This record gives sequence, C-alpha cells and structure tokens, in this order.
Amino acid sequence: MKDYVRVGLIGFGKQGSHYVRMYVERRIFPKFRLTAIADISPQKRQWIKEKLPSDIECFDSAEAMLSSGKVDACIVTTPHAVHPENVIQCLNHGIHVMCDKPAGVHILQVEEMNRVADKHPDLVFSIMFNQRTNCVYRELRRIVQTQQYGKVRRINWTVNNWYRSHVYYDAFDWRGIWNGAYGGTIVDQCPHQVDLWQWMFGMPDKVACRMGFGTHHDIEVEDEVSAILEYKDGCIGTFNSSTSIPNGQNVLEVNLDGANITVKNDKLYLEKFCVPEPEWQKGSHGIYEKPVVEPVVEITTDGKNLQHRGVLEAWINKILGKGDSANDGREGLASVMLSNAMYMSAFTDKVVELPLDGTAYYNELMKRVSVSKPKPPVSDPLGPVRETFGVKDPKEVERYFGISEPV
Ligand SMILES: NC(=O)c1ccc[n+]([C@@H]2O[C@H](COP(=O)([O-])OP(=O)(O)OC[C@H]3O[C@@H](n4cnc5c(N)ncnc54)[C@H](O)[C@@H]3O)[C@@H](O)[C@H]2O)c1
Repeated sequence: MKDYVRVGLIGFGKQGSHYVRMYVERRIFPKFRLTAIADISPQKRQWIKEKLPSDIECFDSAEAMLSSGKVDACIVTTPHAVHPENVIQCLNHGIHVMCDKPAGVHILQVEEMNRVADKHPDLVFSIMFNQRTNCVYRELRRIVQTQQYGKVRRINWTVNNWYRSHVYYDAFDWRGIWNGAYGGTIVDQCPHQVDLWQWMFGMPDKVACRMGFGTHHDIEVEDEVSAILEYKDGCIGTFNSSTSIPNGQNVLEVNLDGANITVKNDKLYLEKFCVPEPEWQKGSHGIYEKPVVEPVVEITTDGKNLQHRGVLEAWINKILGKGDSANDGREGLASVMLSNAMYMSAFTDKVVELPLDGTAYYNELMKRVSVSKPKPPVSDPLGPVRETFGVKDPKEVERYFGISEPV
C-alpha cells in the first residue's frame, strides 16, 4: 500500500487556493499529494494550467475529476450550499472527503449528506473545523467537560473581529445574497464559533435571535447578530457578532460555579473563587459579601494550534490507517442546526426550540431565496486567488510564480 494520498480539490477560489498555496510551499506533510483540481470557472482553470505545477491536473467539473482515477481523496471548497452535493458525489465515487465549513446551509441537505456518509463507513469523511485545533478552545472544552470548576452558568461570546468591507462582498458573485450564500455573518464568518460553541458547551434547548440584514453593507443577508441561547439546566448564553466593526474584539467569557474564564487574544484567563459559589450562597457572611476571588492567571495549554494543516494531516493519516484524530464530517450537522435556529428566530420573531424542524426552516429560508436578486458578474474573478498568493496586482504574479501574467 502506498504511503501517500492523492488529493483532489473541488473549488479553486479564495479558500481552495489557500490549500494549494500550503501544498506548493510544502507546508503540509508529503503524504498529502495534490494531484487534481476541479473548478467550473474557465478563468480559474486557465490560471491553474498556466501557473500551477504541471503534475496537478485540471478538470471542468467535480464529476470529471472523480471519475478520472487521479484522486483517492478530495477537499470540497465550493460555496457553502454546494458542499453537501459535492461530498455526496465524492462518497458515491468511493473517494474520501474533507468538507470545508459550514457543512451546508440548511438541515435537510446536511442530513441527506450524513445518510450517504452512513452508507460508506469505509471512507473517511471529515470537516474543516480548523479552530477546534486551537489549544485554548481544546483546554476550555476539557475544563467544561470535566466540570473542574463546576457547571457552566453563563456564556457571553462577542465575535466582532470578522470585519468585512464591501470589497469583500463585491469580490464574489454568490456572497451577500440569499440565493448564493444563504446567510451572512452566521453562515459565512461564524460557523467556526457556532461549531466551537456546541462542541464546548453542547446544544441549547432554546434560541432567540435578532439580526440586522444589510445594516451596514448593501447586502441582503445579515451583518449584525445577537442571539440568546438557553439550556435546560438554567445556563444562559449570549452570542453577538458583527462584520462591521474595524478592530472588533473576539472575547469569550464563561462563568462557572467555581471560576470565571475568559478567552481573549488566543489566551485563556482564569479567576478562581476561593469557595465555589453554590457553597458560598449557603455560608454565613455579610449580606453583600462576595466570595474571595484569586488574582487572574493565564491557564497553561499545550500551546498547539495547527489549524488547517492539522485538520488535513489528521484526515490523511486516518485514510492511511495511521491515526484516529480526524473529526467526523457528520458532526457538521450540529452547527448547521444551531445557526438555522438563530435564523429561524430572527425570521419569525419567535423563540425557537431545538432540535429544529428542518422542513420548517427550509420553507422559511426559501421565502428569502425566492425574492433574492442576482449580483452582477464580478469584475476580476481571479482577484481573490491572486491575493492568496500575496500578489494583488496582476503585474506582480511573477514575484510568486516566476511567470508574468498578461494584463
Ligand atoms: N475553513 C476556513 O478557514 C475557510 C475560510 C474561508 C472560506 N471557507 C469556505 O470555503 C468555501 C469557499 O469559499 P471561497 O471564499 O473560497 O469562495 P470562492 O467563490 O472564492 O471559491 C469557490 C470556488 O468554487 C468554484 N465552484 C463553484 N461551484 C462549483 C462546482 N459545482 N464545482 C466545482 N467548482 C465550483 C467557483 O468557481 C470558485 O472558484 C466556503 O464554503 C467558505 O465558507 C473556509
């Protein structure tokens, strides 16, 4: 058996080109061999043929690439709504698959994808939840699950560091509209945090959410989100996100029975109570007296944060039968369910109970999709790809590839 995996890529856009750059710069281990790319855009294919190493074959459809015998495994990096369809194609061709985040845009299509995955237990289906590799979230999850500081009482997560200007929305013909991205901040930027939330704290029972649609950008979908997530045990969380705030912060505060924990700037801070609060409540002390809190300390972690490389290498190792740390692609359903619940609440102005009815959500979503206005074609489809390679100006392509691009 060979000691490497021949990998194909479906979708050579902004994110797909990141994986290609990692590969051509040899920032991923040699067991990962990029052998083919499929993209429906003729401009992208021409660029691939002209600029990328000639041993990477180029196809005009996923189907053609999957039937070619050139790939054992495939990364799906097409627009979100296409992920389930592409994953199903891969599985039906007997190809291992890595789905980029999010798993899809609505519950029904992700459930269908998972049903097909269930029929192929021999294939490694994984999902690009790269932020799960971050040591601070892994350590926080461990603390929550072991109840080292008791139960979680409140969670407040403000994720305002996903700033996006109009240049971003204008660079893609599918982003910013219902009939393209099927959502904004929550489905495009925040799937990472929505997944981390359910991965660390579990699924809430009820969700209430307000969204601002096109509040600060000329887009159909949301750029402002405030959600309240309620758990049966009384824990209440708030999740706030905006793509409109330059220098916005990403701060997660978790209040537990025995400590307050904050994640900020990729560091984990602990404020431990000398006595867990439930015990203090019952003690004898002054009426306004609070438990003594120890000075804030940084929690030590293993310091590892491998991101996309770590997720890809775990997937390849599992395909080769050399490790079992790859995540299961079917786990993508939970964050799609949670984000759909946020939309459902914002659309209907009601508190939503989980698990959410996939058909009811689909019908609500389609009301927006049916009146969505198409965008004009983008002026420079290769712009995002050039940016990935650090060459904004077409004249500067030579700097990266040593080849000049006609302007
Ligand atoms: N994991 C991460 O950190 C991360 C970061 C950014 C984006 N993403 C995800 O990557 C996905 C793509 O985003 P992007 O910014 O690269 O978009 P993009 O528009 O730049 O790229 C999508 C590419 O897919 C191609 N495509 C569309 N339909 C296709 C099909 N049926 N078959 C083959 N090719 C097809 C398009 O031509 C385009 O080149 C999104 O789902 C996004 O959420 C993940």
